[in-house]
Amino acid sequence: MSPTRLKILVTRAIPEAAMALLTPHFDVDYYDKHTAIPRPLLLKKVKDKDGLLCILTDKVNPELLKKAPKLKAVATYSVGFDHIDVGACTDRGVIVTNTPGVLTESTADFTWALLLSAARRVVEGDQFMRAGKYKGWDPMMLLGTDVHGKTLGVVGFGRIGQAVARRAMGFGMKVLYYDTQRIFPEVEREFGAKYVELDELLRQADFVTLHTVYDKSTHHLIGAKAFALMKKSAYLINAARGPIVDEKALVKALKTGRIRGAALDVYEREPLMAPGLARCRNAVLVPHLASASLETRTKMGVMAAQGLVDALALRKKPAHTVNADIFDKIAF
Ligand code: DGY
Repeated sequence: MSPTRLKILVTRAIPEAAMALLTPHFDVDYYDKHTAIPRPLLLKKVKDKDGLLCILTDKVNPELLKKAPKLKAVATYSVGFDHIDVGACTDRGVIVTNTPGVLTESTADFTWALLLSAARRVVEGDQFMRAGKYKGWDPMMLLGTDVHGKTLGVVGFGRIGQAVARRAMGFGMKVLYYDTQRIFPEVEREFGAKYVELDELLRQADFVTLHTVYDKSTHHLIGAKAFALMKKSAYLINAARGPIVDEKALVKALKTGRIRGAALDVYEREPLMAPGLARCRNAVLVPHLASASLETRTKMGVMAAQGLVDALALRKKPAHTVNADIFDKIAF
């Protein structure tokens, strides 16, 4: 008699390459849709599962863990894991993996797409053309802000923040960064980046770009007080997590001209936007796309799948375990 296969749940349609890794090892319950799995269904389906491959909108919290007594591993199809109660998973002996590294460069590329679109009014120009409003070249039409030679303020100087800073060198920009910890001087030199306190960064930067993790300490890190410190000519770019910004305060800052513009990939109550944000023409708004290249999303899927295969089928410590301290607790 063949041994019972381990059961896993995949909560969203994912690239085929990722599914191909999973199917030889597991009985896969595949929610192959492009919409979020309804919470009651998710809670029902995890009941008999050994593993879960989830996305960043699936909350893995004590409520879910309680419903999933057999669960041993959760692989999130994202680098961010603020949707997972990692402490609760560790207490329950559940391994958590994520997808760091593979999306760094794509996210940095996209951050620049956002920054340049906002500064040079690319989206407004596109809408203008499509609306048939272009009647010929005009010296004063849709004037934006230069990017080259300006000051970039990077909040959160991890992998993605550093990749964004590296690209700023090509624009001849001055780079300031803030993080909870200062990096080594030789790394600062590599990026031509200078450490400053957050308030100083906000005062000096022409473009403030957010790349910090989201947790209690970064909730509304950028709110009314931050906007009051920023230059009136400054732009805010957020491709990290929505709730790092107080979106209501941002709408006010954009409407009153307290800052000149913003470009957002993420929102405080995704997929919703704060009232009034959609009417702010000085904001570029896109739907959480920073890692959305075919190559990168495939690599993320494969990495997430490999996390489950390692943790459950091969009984090998997954390379990208978020709660690595769990291996002191569980026999492996
Ligand atoms: C992540 O991975 O955390 C991004 O937000 C989506 O790629």
